[in-house]
Amino acid sequence: MYEAGGYAVLAGCSISLVEGERGQMSPENVQRAIRKVAGSDSHYPECTLICVENTANVGGGSIYDQETLDAICEVAHRNDCRAHMDGARMFNAVVASGTDPARMVRDFDTISICLSKGLGAPIGSVLVGDAATIAEAHRWRKMFGGGMRQSGILAAAGLYALENNIDRLGEDHARARRLAEALDAMEEYSIDLGAVQSNMVYINCKKDGAKTLVNSLAERGVDVLDLEHGVDYGDISTLRAVVHLHITDEDIDRVIAAFDAAQ
Ligand SMILES: Cc1ncc(COP(=O)(O)O)c(C=O)c1O
Repeated sequence: MYEAGGYAVLAGCSISLVEGERGQMSPENVQRAIRKVAGSDSHYPECTLICVENTANVGGGSIYDQETLDAICEVAHRNDCRAHMDGARMFNAVVASGTDPARMVRDFDTISICLSKGLGAPIGSVLVGDAATIAEAHRWRKMFGGGMRQSGILAAAGLYALENNIDRLGEDHARARRLAEALDAMEEYSIDLGAVQSNMVYINCKKDGAKTLVNSLAERGVDVLDLEHGVDYGDISTLRAVVHLHITDEDIDRVIAAFDAAQ
């Protein structure tokens, strides 16, 4: 959906998007999406990789059950595919579900985690995998021009984030829940409260279109993401608010008041 469709240019691959409930794929639908060249009279692409995003952004920050993660990895491996977890927000899933991180990713071949976003480092993502995979990824990163020689200072910030900012993610989740419940109680907004499982709140607005509301909130000092990226497609629009370590209880009060005033 994002990153400018770069997979097609950089990796030269095709993808198959799998239907999901609140952003969560079922193992059955993953199995259905896997296509192999063999037996297809050259019609099918060769599927080699299954990617799972946890938490699922467009699913509202929703969290996979461990059983589903294990079953998806089993489907991947049974079909000679690798399993990758896009764990940009994995530690939100770890804290919200109380799962041990090593257990969560036990059956994955690779994972990526983001040191910014919830963990609060100014920059950085980390790819985790076996030594041979990382050596290969290191070479591709160099070829794509993504290598950095001056990354020590950035790594220091990332280490600080890993050592200090994981456990406190629960505070973000509690604030997101308070925000979601307060907005859902207002006439002009509706929220799928069941999808609010971590630090995100997707807000459906009933009138005016997202752009007007985003501008009105900005005037009150509140920045939210307009999912239509400024294009007004109709009278229902969705905004995304994300809570992170710079957002305090007082900020949540201010955001609730701003949404109320902007109704
Ligand atoms: C789910 C998810 N995966 C991956 C990325 C990419 O992260 P990075 O730009 O740090 O590689 C993002 C960034 O927004 C994301 O939200």
